[in-house]
Amino acid sequence: MLDEDEYRLGFGTYSLTDEDGIDALVRAIELGYRHLDTARLYGNEEEVGEAIARTDVDRDDLFVATKIAHFEEPERTPEYVRNGVEESLSRLGIDTIDLLYHHWPRNRDDIETVLPVFNELVDAGRAEHVGVSNYTPADLELAADLLEPSPYAVQAEMHPFLPQEELRTAVRDRDAYFVAYSPIAQGNVFESPEISAIADKHDTNEAAVSLAWLLLKDAVVPIPRSKTPDHIRSNREALEFELDDTDIERIDGIDRQARCEDPDWMEWE
Ligand SMILES: NC(=O)c1ccc[n+]([C@@H]2O[C@H](COP(=O)([O-])OP(=O)(O)OC[C@H]3O[C@@H](n4cnc5c(N)ncnc54)[C@H](OP(=O)(O)O)[C@@H]3O)[C@@H](O)[C@H]2O)c1
Repeated sequence: MLDEDEYRLGFGTYSLTDEDGIDALVRAIELGYRHLDTARLYGNEEEVGEAIARTDVDRDDLFVATKIAHFEEPERTPEYVRNGVEESLSRLGIDTIDLLYHHWPRNRDDIETVLPVFNELVDAGRAEHVGVSNYTPADLELAADLLEPSPYAVQAEMHPFLPQEELRTAVRDRDAYFVAYSPIAQGNVFESPEISAIADKHDTNEAAVSLAWLLLKDAVVPIPRSKTPDHIRSNREALEFELDDTDIERIDGIDRQARCEDPDWMEWE
């Protein structure tokens, strides 16, 4: 499904809560976004469910992704995962999650606890596809051994300041989609002179340039987040113009590495 044009540009929902969050979600769906990315940790699955219920778009035409993680030791049990996913389904008001991610592993034990439960949930029809997020290439090897079938999508941070070449190669080798979070570097792409020059050339803005660059990469699915009506609309300009080879080389050549999400305890290598 993620290879179809309607789903290639997803919609991130972190911090979209309450009535404003529902409004942003309904607006996004009405403008054509069909792939919604939430998480148990965002505390907004009910708002996502409410937006799905309020729009005229059929549930079957939407692709709903959510995530579960268990960061605290007492929660690290299969029951926590099973019950947590049932709670997500109930808050979202749907029968099946299109893409269920393990949000962020703490260690190998954590991966070994969660992923076998995901297999059960797929067999039981509670999730259509399984994904992993914030996994290193080594974690991906383990995931491929534990999951049946292997992960459908790998979600990780990616934008012009974090091109993720090594991880992308590992994901491509496994025929999975690379879902790119923080695809406009949480607004930092607006500070790049290279990206601003390309935006001027195409009469668009820096966010759209960053998203267009991601969309040109093989099997990469960006999920920008916005609650501002004008941004929700203009981010879709990324689907309407193409960067040329000079633009792509210029962005590929940006010599700046920066992660937006980098907790102290995480070892990326
Ligand atoms: N798996 C994970 O661990 C993980 C981690 C982080 C994020 N995510 C997912 O990825 C999604 C996106 O990442 P993100 O929320 O970190 O960052 P992002 O999408 O890169 O950036 C969001 C920020 O950019 C602003 N923005 C959006 N479009 C804009 C535009 N056209 N012009 C100016 N500003 C614009 C938004 O403000 P406005 O609201 O005012 O537009 C917001 O402050 C999240 O919502 C979440 O679903 C997953």
